[in-house]
Order: sequence, then structure tokens, then C-alpha cells
Amino acid sequence: MDKKIKVLMVGYEADPFYKHGGLGDVIGSLPKALSGLNVDCRVVIPYYQAIKEKFISNVFNLKEERIGEFLIHFGEKDEQIGIYKSVLPGSNVIIYFLSNRKNLSYINTRGRNKKIDQFAFFDLAVSHFILWLRSKSKWTPAIVHCNDWHTSLIPFILQKQINTPIPTLLTIHNFEYQGRGSIKVLDLLHIKDKDVVEFKKGTPVTEINILGEGIMDATRVSTVSPNYAKEIINNSNCHGQIYSYMRRREREKGKSNFLSGILNGIDYNIWDSKNDGLIYHRYDISDWQLGKKINKEDLLKSLNLKDRPTFCFIGRMAKQKGIDLLVRAINRIVNLDVNLIFLGDGDSNIKKSLFKAQEKYKDNIRTEFFYSEELAHKLYASSDFILIPSHFEPCGLIQMIAMRYGTLPVASKTGGLKDSIKNNSTGFLFEKNSTRSLVKTIRKALRVYKWNEKYQKMTERAMKTDFSWRKSAKKYKKLYFEILKEESI
Ligand code: GLC
Repeated sequence: MDKKIKVLMVGYEADPFYKHGGLGDVIGSLPKALSGLNVDCRVVIPYYQAIKEKFISNVFNLKEERIGEFLIHFGEKDEQIGIYKSVLPGSNVIIYFLSNRKNLSYINTRGRNKKIDQFAFFDLAVSHFILWLRSKSKWTPAIVHCNDWHTSLIPFILQKQINTPIPTLLTIHNFEYQGRGSIKVLDLLHIKDKDVVEFKKGTPVTEINILGEGIMDATRVSTVSPNYAKEIINNSNCHGQIYSYMRRREREKGKSNFLSGILNGIDYNIWDSKNDGLIYHRYDISDWQLGKKINKEDLLKSLNLKDRPTFCFIGRMAKQKGIDLLVRAINRIVNLDVNLIFLGDGDSNIKKSLFKAQEKYKDNIRTEFFYSEELAHKLYASSDFILIPSHFEPCGLIQMIAMRYGTLPVASKTGGLKDSIKNNSTGFLFEKNSTRSLVKTIRKALRVYKWNEKYQKMTERAMKTDFSWRKSAKKYKKLYFEILKEESI
């Protein structure tokens, strides 16, 4: 048996305690899969007020316990951090919550610098928490696994400020969000002048790009699909300044293979049409045709829609997700005599334009502008197709869930969508940013749908594809070992 590696997974959210997006799903489920592979993985996130309230009303059916506290020096003040401990539901994986009323109770949404200051505070707290763990609970992580810009100052703080050079992996779930703001945040962290000069190498000199710094300082960097990793490395127009940080890292650290791409998985305990309590009728691969048919009947009845081929969209209403393409092609799509159901919250202009489309095509379109876990489950089980027109997509989880529920994706050929969907075999891919290709591909999907035998084969292939976390967790474990080996040379 191999040596049990200790890994501390850090993020700003973890499902089911706190979740805004796909990152929450990953932090809530990857550690469980890792612990099944003999990795001693523990998680740490901020202790938001919202989580405290859920513990009080016993939403998780779990207890948390205060196990200690320590002080950090942030700006002009000493701040106390409380440490709470619980487990990820349905597992023995330990999760720690770091509490500080002023800085960690709510996500600060007023002004971009506020948020940057807040996560600099969290990163400093996590770094000192590692010292606390080492001295008080005799548990020292061999690797600190950071996620996204919110945790990207940790590698720097560990190395330069508290002189605890534990190797780090920085996984980037979306390069679009970089934590950019005023370099003044470094004063709050009391970073030495000579190190500030290093930070100022970025452009412009008054600004800091926290994700970029993380890319420079982490032992290794990864992202959430192999194809997105390739897109990032090769495209100088991708995500603003990131390309220059990638090149700088290669130049200054002399390594070109620092970026890996590991496809995410989905939690099979949650996404299982056979045991899903939120859908109308449960089914699996042996009776999916009947199962999906009766789910669809109930859904369409509840939304007052006619029985037609049904396409859904589930997710954040953000520019990245390419809803503008759907809006531009809406007349052509509706003319194909289909239903379109949109579920998600976000940008008000996007919502406005979808609402207008719904007004125009009352018989075919439904919009639900809030995020409902329950409706999402029902849509996966009841729709024939899911539309994913993203302009870029680091990984995407919805295509995997949809496939597992026998709902074929019609998706742009980009990022993790390209890695997880086999064109004309487990779904349909179209040229990204092209409404022409989108409409052409929807037509093709409808032809296959009518030609029942091929549709049946594709659906069954999609349902059988292995998107379990286990497969991806093995790759992370391998990467952890690589990092340790590299560090020991
Ligand atoms: C971000 C990405 C998405 C990815 C998720 C989890 O939300 O936009 O593509 O699946 O993170 O890694």
C-alpha cells in the first residue's frame, strides 16, 4: 500500500455548506473520492454566517464543534480567527471552517477591492491555520491544494512570509476570474518591500492580479479539463493578462510543463436517476425510455407546454454561457417546433432578452429566473436535449449530469465540453460562437431523435459514460505524487 498523503483542500465554497457554482460541487465531492483512494484529504473554507445559520437549524443533520482559535496581524489590527470542525456529509472527510465576524461572515460584494482584501485575509488565515494544525493537532499537510483566485496568495504567503514552504497545487476552475485590484492589498499583508517589487512586475504597476501571482508561486498549476489547458497555453487572446503570466512563469522558472488538465467528475450519490428523490419518476438504463417519457409528460403538463422535442438550458445567466447565441437564433429554433426551457439566475440584460423571447413565443418558451435544485433535477430527467452554447467552458458539469440522465447535450466545441462529449456518439458539438452551426446542429439532433434507433444508441452510450469522481481523483493523486517527487529532488 502506498504512503497516505495529507492534503489540505482550500476553497471559498463547498457544497452543501455553501455553493454558488461548479467550484462548490468540486470542493464538496473531490475530497470524498480522494479519501476513497487512501489520501488523507481535509477541507477548509470560510465560516460564513449563512453556514452558521444552517448548522443552527440542523439542515445538514450534522454538528460542528469549535476546536480552537489563533490571531493574525492584518493591516493595523490583530484579528482573532475561530476554528470549527465538522465532516462532509456522508463521509469521514474533515472540513474546517475559519470564522472572523468582520472579514469572513459574508462575501463582500461592494467594490472589487473589498473582495480582494477579504480573500487576502482568508489566505493569511489559512496559512496561519496550517501552523496551528501542525502544532496543535500534529497534522501537517504534505500538499496544500488551492482553488481559484480566492486562494491564490497562499503559495506566496507560505513560502515568503511565514517560511513554511509546503508544496502547493493551484487548480483554476475559470481563468476569467482573476482577483484584480489595487496593489495596496499587499500593505494589509505586510509584505516586505523587496517582495512587493516582484509583484509589481505585472502590468500596470498599481494593480495586482492575484491569480497571476498564484500561477507564478504555486508548485504546479492545473485546470479542469485537458482541452481547456491547451486553449489557455496556446491562445494569447484568452482571458486578458493570463497568457503573459504563463509565459513569465516559463521564462523565470524554466519549466514548460507546469500546467495539467484534469477533467472534473460528478457526484454519483447525488446524480443518480435511479435514486433521485427530486424527480417525478425514477429510472435507469433498463427503462429509460419509459422513465423519461413519463417524467417529460409531468413536466410539460406543469409548465403548460405541448408535447414536442424539449431542450433545456440550466445554469448561470452569464455572458460566458452563450445565451446571446440562443437569443439571436431564437426564431429559427422555435420554427423547428420545439420547447425551450431556461433555468437560472444572473445578468439582468440576459434575463430581459429571454423574457422578451418568451413573450413572443408563449407556446414554446418557459423561463425560470432563479436557481432551483429541484427543478434542475426534473429538467435533467425530463428533457430530450440540453443546450450548452458556452463561448468558453473550463469543464462544465451539466453536460455530464445530463448524459447520465439520458439527456443528450448540444454543446459548443470548446474546453471541457469537447473533452466530455463525443460528437454524434454521446451528444452533438457545434462550432463555438456560430449561430449558423448551432441551428444546423439542433436540426441534426432532431433528425436523429426521429430516427429512433440511432437516438436510442446515443442515449445509452451517454448514460454509460463514466463521469465518476474516482477516475479524476486518481489523476489528482498521481499529480500529488509528482509534486512531492519534484520537490524532493
Ligand atoms: C467553473 C467553470 C466550469 C467548471 C466549474 C468546476 O464554474 O466555469 O466550467 O465546471 O468551475 O470546475
